[in-house]
Amino acid sequence: MYLNKKILVCVTGGIAVYKAVALVSKLSQAGADVKVVMTESAMEFVTPLTFQAMSRNDVFFDTFDEKDSRVIAHIDLADWADLVIVAPATANVIGKVANGISDDMVTTVLLATTAEVWFAPAMNVNMYENKAVIRNIASLAEDGYRFIEPSEGFLACGYVGKGRLEEPEKIVELVEKAFEPKELPLAGKKVVITAGPTRERIDPVRYVSNFSSGKMGYAMAEAAAQLGAETVLVSGPVGLDKPVGVKVINIESAAEMFAAVSAQYEDAAIVIKAAAVADYRPAEIHTQKIKKSDGESVINLARTTDILQTLGERKENQLLVGFAAETENVIENGLSKLKTKNLDFIIVNDVTDPDGGFGNETNVVTLLSKNGTNKPYPAMSKKDLATLLLTAIIEEERIGSTYDR
Ligand code: CTP
Repeated sequence: MYLNKKILVCVTGGIAVYKAVALVSKLSQAGADVKVVMTESAMEFVTPLTFQAMSRNDVFFDTFDEKDSRVIAHIDLADWADLVIVAPATANVIGKVANGISDDMVTTVLLATTAEVWFAPAMNVNMYENKAVIRNIASLAEDGYRFIEPSEGFLACGYVGKGRLEEPEKIVELVEKAFEPKELPLAGKKVVITAGPTRERIDPVRYVSNFSSGKMGYAMAEAAAQLGAETVLVSGPVGLDKPVGVKVINIESAAEMFAAVSAQYEDAAIVIKAAAVADYRPAEIHTQKIKKSDGESVINLARTTDILQTLGERKENQLLVGFAAETENVIENGLSKLKTKNLDFIIVNDVTDPDGGFGNETNVVTLLSKNGTNKPYPAMSKKDLATLLLTAIIEEERIGSTYDR
């Protein structure tokens, strides 16, 4: 892994300073931008020049040596770091930080930083087991500081016991692990989403459609991709940009949508049907433009396949999520669709609500589930709502890495 991070190594005075040289070198080799701050006693063991060469950065040790007049060095370093490692950490520095003392560059930076701070102690075993040191470590741990326990072995003072600075390779490994991207809840899952209206052709120049903008479905697709899913969006004709990281399949009619969704169904973990599919299509599609004539005209309509209903009948392990746009008896109608279409969830909205429905940037919905969930969401952007709805579904179904499933 390439460690694209800024790491501040605070070196305090103990014989293990030579291992801190290796630590700085290995962190730099791993890709990190490393800066070093030293105490006076650390400089008794190794000179700043060694750390400067290993880190290819200036080394700091004097609180009042302001190398750059535009900034205050200790604050600048404290703000710069993504992570601060105190290695080796002496009993002295542990005691000082535990008590809020800042009397040199190292302790001043440690007090000023809001980054995570790790201490890698190294000292004589009796010092490490001294009650005051144990007390200081416990109080720092309680304040959120992390400790890399020293290992046991032959100590420079001649003792054998716990107190050796952890090996630099091991510390680098811990740093890499800490910065590893966390697995997203939908990683490795395929999510299929439909969005927008369908167009049912009457003749080469005319069609029957609806006012769906596709915004809610596109927001769901964007949220699914951000949660780590392999996302396929089957989209009717809309004027929206392709969401980042989403595979878009453009279709026109309900029949084309049915074919596209069916082809994606088998290995899908979640199918979300946000599209406003036409329930009827012209019974006959004229190959030539229909000419006007006097008097009324009638277009006979035939039913389209209810895609969601069919998916519900064919359901194996897929999680099915429907949408219902209603103008009255919103919850009752939603619950009835949940049941008859064999869905796991249905998101219902009252399209007469001024903050919800077609074309708006915002929506007001209620999430209903087969387990009895009835969760209303206040008016909010379709983007925020999409993330909240997907997260609620993931939690209720215990999907993904968080639940080891
Ligand atoms: N739906 C579908 N195929 C259709 C019609 C609807 O997959 N031919 C899906 C929609 O994508 C939505 C859900 O069914 O997820 C509910 O759609 P809606 O139009 O609100 O409900 P209908 O079942 O069509 O019932 P009605 O029109 O009578 O309200």
